[in-house]
Amino acid sequence: MTDSLTHLLGIAPLSPAHITSILDLADRYVDLNRRQVKRSDALAGRTQVNMFFENSTRTLVSFEVAGKRLGADVINMAMQTSSIKKGETLVDTALTLNAMHPDLLVVRHPHSGAVELLAQKVNCAVLNAGDGRHEHPTQALLDALTIRRAKGRLDGLTVAICGDIAHSRVARSNLILLQKMGSTVRLVGPPTLVPTGLGADVFHDMETGLKDADVVMMLRLQKERMDGGFIPSEREYYHRFGLDADKMTHAKPDAIVMHPAPMNRGVEIDGELADDLTRSVIQEQVEMGVAVRMAAMDLLMQGRAAKPDGVMV
Ligand code: NCD
Repeated sequence: MTDSLTHLLGIAPLSPAHITSILDLADRYVDLNRRQVKRSDALAGRTQVNMFFENSTRTLVSFEVAGKRLGADVINMAMQTSSIKKGETLVDTALTLNAMHPDLLVVRHPHSGAVELLAQKVNCAVLNAGDGRHEHPTQALLDALTIRRAKGRLDGLTVAICGDIAHSRVARSNLILLQKMGSTVRLVGPPTLVPTGLGADVFHDMETGLKDADVVMMLRLQKERMDGGFIPSEREYYHRFGLDADKMTHAKPDAIVMHPAPMNRGVEIDGELADDLTRSVIQEQVEMGVAVRMAAMDLLMQGRAAKPDGVMV
């Protein structure tokens, strides 16, 4: 790596060299994770605290598995029952935790920018596990690893990101990463769900949006971030923007299907297509998630060992 990382707050601050080194190390962790004994001591003696202020199943488990395989002491803070409910501010919570000398805080928060604010107040490394609609860096990295393993490269590809772009941190982080690595990103969805000005070509129909795409990445309708009126009905949405085998005929014959999950089957994606292992890499994305998180945490800790007051990138 050219310079070491202090935190992982988003894809935006990363250079292509950073991204490549995380993915290269993650490839090695994929091998480790496929062995019977999945143990490394890269994080032995380190304390990792997972603070999830928003519901999560797979991301939380993925970070927990990743930390444990690296030998860290992993603590999951139940934020629903924490002092936050008693009115303690995010910063007070962070300062209290900081006094216990954790090495890594993994934070998910419903407000964009909250994780960065927290990172400014603590001495340890902070990893953004998704902040509002802003960024979700480890999701974009695991998607990149999945694409690189399927296509052999990350440059010169056409990637169609489809659906609820407006409310999606996954879309933002993927867009930034894929453009940095030299691929073309298309944003596909109804005008109410695809903001303009994101610096990518926008398509309002699947036929032209998917034409000759190498990768079709579907997004969940983020109903929890909608206050109504974004789509006429789920049935109509599925008809126009839901991915099925028929719509896939517009993409390249060897195009892969991705989804960050959780999926709304029959809303944004056909269940059968999602389960078709000849085209769908959705399960592989979950596998890559653990490896990428191991790599990111390993590199963050290496950077801190080298220069404790390292410059924030
Ligand atoms: C994503 C998220 O939380 O942003 N999910 C995830 O991390 N696996 C996408 C989503 O919730 O739709």
